[in-house]
Order: sequence, then structure tokens, then C-alpha cells
Amino acid sequence: MTATELKAQLRQQAQGALSLNVAYIGVVNGLFSHLHRLGRASAQRLAEEAAMDGGYVLRWCDAAFAFGYLDACDDGFTLTALGAAMRPEAPDSLMPLAVQSVLSAHMAERAAGLMRTGERPGESVLAERQTVLPWFGPMLEANFSALFEHTICPQVPAFAAVNARGGLAVDLGCGNGWYLRALLRRCDRLRGLGIDGLEENVRQARELAQREGLQERLQFVTGDIHDLQLVEAADVIAMNRALHHVWEKGAQTLLSWLRDQLKPGGFVVIWEPAWPSQRQALRQPALRGMAFQNLSEHVQGNHFLRTEEIETALVQAGLPAQTYRFGTDGSEAVIVGQRPA
Ligand SMILES: C[S@@+](CC[C@H](N)C(=O)[O-])C[C@H]1O[C@@H](n2cnc3c(N)ncnc32)[C@H](O)[C@@H]1O
Repeated sequence: MTATELKAQLRQQAQGALSLNVAYIGVVNGLFSHLHRLGRASAQRLAEEAAMDGGYVLRWCDAAFAFGYLDACDDGFTLTALGAAMRPEAPDSLMPLAVQSVLSAHMAERAAGLMRTGERPGESVLAERQTVLPWFGPMLEANFSALFEHTICPQVPAFAAVNARGGLAVDLGCGNGWYLRALLRRCDRLRGLGIDGLEENVRQARELAQREGLQERLQFVTGDIHDLQLVEAADVIAMNRALHHVWEKGAQTLLSWLRDQLKPGGFVVIWEPAWPSQRQALRQPALRGMAFQNLSEHVQGNHFLRTEEIETALVQAGLPAQTYRFGTDGSEAVIVGQRPA
């Protein structure tokens, strides 16, 4: 390709990122949702409804019109089908793409600066962007909740086995608690306890459990996975996209501790993106995002794991393990270890 063709290609790709940046502003300020309720509105009317500044909303409406999220008519704006699909409450919402895009830009900027010193500031980088943090949980929920509820939970036999005897499901690094809410919807004989290090996540998790009427069966507390005490032995302990967050601080000690917190016959269920054994696989379009994310995980003090190393660590901790693969490219790995009865 010539330099001109390369520039044209990159400019086109950059428009995709710009489009998601425009969408992000609308998502986190409720503009898509408000306009959906209003049906048709001037920028000023939309600003009043969303309790935002009129000047900013007018400029946003122009940008959202330019990228095809809004249509314009004489007396205001309406949502296009694309704009309607960006509403967080829309079925199969496009919202996670917008949140991921701005989060990635933040992480890229942090990685660029930190590479000079090697500093790895940890989980706190997520909280550096005021508008991003509250959307982290909803983004993960929108990305993974349906896959769990409709595919993983029915296909991984451990869940039916635990539900048959009833008991306690613990989720370590629970985020906004979507996993336990989905699990309890399917498994009516289970209770849940979710633990997360971020106050904001626990606040959201409690609120969402209450909204679904699950508060009697579902509790959430703030805590550090490295320094926990469970008052009751668990029937299943889950970690979703959380094991890689604590791996570098001593996985083997943690997994042995997990085994000891389980009732005999209980399960540890680890869900992680499967880092490929061969670098070449990262060129696959579906895995490119994971390659970038692993750089931003490095900023947080983490790195993605190969499924085999998780399985080996579980076995070494006395938890014979089995792996199940999900997702179109098999890159979602669920590794189940069981404490012998
Ligand atoms: C990628 S998120 C996954 C959240 C949730 N499990 C999900 O699937 O949506 C990782 C979570 O682990 C939590 N976390 C990371 N390190 C932790 C620690 N040491 N103690 C408690 N929570 C931790 C983070 O706050 C974050 O919510």
C-alpha cells in the first residue's frame, strides 16, 4: 500500500474510534435514554431533561448527528436506530463498545507515560476517570451476563450439581454482582456472597440485587481477596476475570486457601479470557482487543493467563480441574476445580 492509501485506511479506522467517543458522552450522561423518552427534542430541551449544560449538549447533538446517532428535523433531533441501540437499557445494547473505547484511550495514555519508569499503579487507575468508573460494571454485565446465564450456566455441570444440594456461592472480585444475580435467577436453592475491593462496585451490586428483589439471598461486602475470612464454608467459589488480578501476588497460596474454604465436593469456578499459547494467534481480529487489554492489565499489576497454567495451579492446590471453552473463538475459558468429597 502507498503512504496515501495507508493514511486513508487509518483515517477510516480513526472515525470508528471518534464515533465511539461521541457515543460515550451520550451514554454516561443519559442523552440517548432521555431523547428516547422525549421522542423528539431541541438540544436545549434535551439538556434540561438530562440536567446538563445547554452549550455542551448542542455541540454534542451536532457531533452525534454527524456520526449518525441522531437525525435532525426543523424543531430538533430524534434518535436513529444506531442511537437507540446505544441506550444502556436497549436489548443487546452497544453501550459496552463506547465505554471500552474511552477506557482503552485512558489506559493507552497511562501505559505511554508509565513505560518510562516501569511503575504499575494497580487497580486504582480504573478510578482515575470519574465518568468511567460507574460504567465498568454495567459494561462487563452487558458483555457477559447473557453468555453466562444462557450458555455457561446450563452447560457447566457444576452449577446444577451445587444447586441440587443447595448452599452458598461466593464470588471473589464480584464487580457489580451481575454473575451472582444471574446464578441465583437460575439456581433457586443457592444463596450468594459477593466480595470486591472497590466500594463503588459493592454499592452498585447491593442496589441492583435489591432492585431484583434478591436482597434476602444475596449479600455484598467490600474486601481484599488476599485478606479474607469466610464465616461459612462455600459450595462454590467463583472468580470471573478476577484471578488474573491477584495472580502475581501469589496464586498458589490463594488457590490452596480457596480449597480450604470449600465444603467437600465443592467447586472453584474460574472464568478467564484464555491468553493464547502462540503469539501468532493474537493477529486474529477477535484476539487483538485482548492483546491491547493485556497491556492495560500490566498497568494494573496483572497479566492474562494461559488456561493450562490455571489448570496446573488448581491441580497443585488439590483441586482436580476441567476446562470448558466458550465464545465464537473459544477464548472464554471456564476452568472448574473440585475439592474431593
Ligand atoms: C475485571 S473485573 C471483573 C468483575 C466481575 N467479576 C465481572 O466479571 O464483571 C475484576 C474485579 O476484581 C476486583 N479486584 C481486583 N483485585 C481485587 C482484590 N485484591 N480484592 C478484591 N477485589 C479485587 C476489581 O475491583 C474488579 O471488580
